[in-house]
Amino acid sequence: MAFLLIKNGQIVTDSDSFQGDILIDDGKIQAIGRELEKPDLKTQVLDASGLLIFPGGIDPHVHMELPVAGTVSSDDFESGTRAALAGGTTTIIDFVTPERGQPLLEALQGRKELAGKSVCDYGFHMSLTAWNETIRREMETCVREEGIPSFKVYLAYKETVGLEDRDLIAVMDTAARLGALVTAHCEHGDLVTYLSKKLLAAGRTEPRSHALSRPPEVEREAVVRALTFAKLTGAQLYIVHVSTKEAVREIARAQAKGRPVFAETCPHYLLLDAREYDRSPAAAAAYIMSPPLRPPEHKAALWDALKNGTLQTVGTDHCPFNLKGQKDRDLSDFTKIPNGVAGVENRLELLFTAGVLRKHISLRQFVRVTSANPAKIFGLFPRKGSVSVGADADLVLWNPAAQEIISAETQKQRCDTTIYEGFKIRGKPETVIAKGHIVFEKGEVTAERGAGRYLYRQKTNLLPSDLN
Ligand code: URP
Ligand code: ZN
Repeated sequence: MAFLLIKNGQIVTDSDSFQGDILIDDGKIQAIGRELEKPDLKTQVLDASGLLIFPGGIDPHVHMELPVAGTVSSDDFESGTRAALAGGTTTIIDFVTPERGQPLLEALQGRKELAGKSVCDYGFHMSLTAWNETIRREMETCVREEGIPSFKVYLAYKETVGLEDRDLIAVMDTAARLGALVTAHCEHGDLVTYLSKKLLAAGRTEPRSHALSRPPEVEREAVVRALTFAKLTGAQLYIVHVSTKEAVREIARAQAKGRPVFAETCPHYLLLDAREYDRSPAAAAAYIMSPPLRPPEHKAALWDALKNGTLQTVGTDHCPFNLKGQKDRDLSDFTKIPNGVAGVENRLELLFTAGVLRKHISLRQFVRVTSANPAKIFGLFPRKGSVSVGADADLVLWNPAAQEIISAETQKQRCDTTIYEGFKIRGKPETVIAKGHIVFEKGEVTAERGAGRYLYRQKTNLLPSDLN
């Protein structure tokens, strides 16, 4: 591969911001400095004057081609990772979700085969959907041999993937012994089932009832439960898609006691609210995700928590379904609408526009929550999430002045709808580089199908205070 030299960009990392040049060779950053020279005549030079340079985004929470309730999320690994690159995300972490009774390693193999067509690098969290001694041994293999040091548990969806308390405790105990991280979907499943049945029986079948079936108490209860189990087992905990001020308060309390507790929110909880459910049933279905959108007052608490470091990451929970043929299959029963929304393409531009430009977070915090912190928490740092010599050359050349209006018509995400329709964004990737190759320029993704690589991740042993 020929050398690539990026000149005159403003390099922004989680801890620094400086004007400089970056020399890339063989997929890695070889040098960073001022006025670097071309090593040879064949060196390609990119002028980054006026642009910011970030480490490639890392989305720690996506679900490509995920089977859900008789359908499959509409982005496959190729279309979804193309959309990721277009938005400046060069690494995703998806999930392996074994069928109950299926060996974890068999499910992993199946997922690796599907993900082979990815155009950006990818790793997996292993979901635990059942519990027995074989699974305990397989968890060890995941950590020691497969580069998967993070396990997902669902406190919701007990009929399909969720675990009972005794199994959650066993998972956390095993993870603690292995030095692995437990990521938790915190909604109390039995409460959701109870409230859903009650709403349906009362004839409240429309999509807006989704939010009423999963009120903030349902999240708070599950967060407290997960925090308690993590404390008593010694597990490191990462709470996914935090959506409420009550959950933030509980997480902050645990962190203040020095516990290894990390948490993520998503752009939709920062930017949208439950008023979207007042639309017609056919339109409101587009906004069905779990946890649901919340009353407006929760948004300020989430922004504050990102700023003060209670929340360390922004993941998208990217799990799109088309409005036509997927979301609208049965609008007469809100529990049958597939849960999930698209976002992997929009995460950086939304966070930059609404977070950095509106001064909720600084540029360095932007890099932390979109790249450096996911890399650190999930065992990829400094190879990913940093701009440093020896790191993978995954870089976003960001034009802070670019403007665009988000639309389902023009998005690269394979979905007929976007919950951000009409959003005016400012700041977009001009060029994206992954492992030293230009993979996005002039509005087009140029990466080859299958260019992404499976990432073996390392165990970590961090505290939230290590990330601020
Ligand atoms: O609504 C959501 N979050 N869908 C994706 C699957 C999950 O629960 O993470
Ligand atoms: Zn998810």
